[in-house]
Amino acid sequence: MSAYSTKVMEHFRNPRNVGYIEDADGVGKVGNPVCGDIMELTIKVRDGVISDAKFRTFGCGAAIATSSMVTEMVKGKTIEEALHISNRAVAEALGGLPSIKMHCSVLAEQALKSAIEDYYAKHPEAGPPPEPAETAAPCGAQGGKCVLETGAEERKAGG
Ligand code: FES
Repeated sequence: MSAYSTKVMEHFRNPRNVGYIEDADGVGKVGNPVCGDIMELTIKVRDGVISDAKFRTFGCGAAIATSSMVTEMVKGKTIEEALHISNRAVAEALGGLPSIKMHCSVLAEQALKSAIEDYYAKHPEAGPPPEPAETAAPCGAQGGKCVLETGAEERKAGG
């Protein structure tokens, strides 16, 4: 019997919202320095509501399933609501994850937060970002954050 729920396996085999939004309003790219997996999340925002979300994940099955689920969960949510989506909520929506794979769901939460952070960096007219909910525990790095870079940082690096 698989250690994964039927829903995890279903999202792993048929991931939703795979891709990259070219004219995204926010881009988040995070990685787990321990396993080397990388997740990139792009969002489109209309009137404070996330109208679209897509992901590209180079990683394990749990990382792919949580990426898929988080893109489904954020669509139609306000930025503030999206900031309250925790890695645990994503894992629960998938019917749970084995404890040794919970860190994979942290990538999904942090990719989302990183994309929202980038949205506010690109859209100062949106005002100051709301206070985020509690931040997920670091994903195995020694006290570090999973975040590799945001789109804003990429732009800076690219000149
Ligand atoms: S093992 Fe790296 S995110 Fe799952």
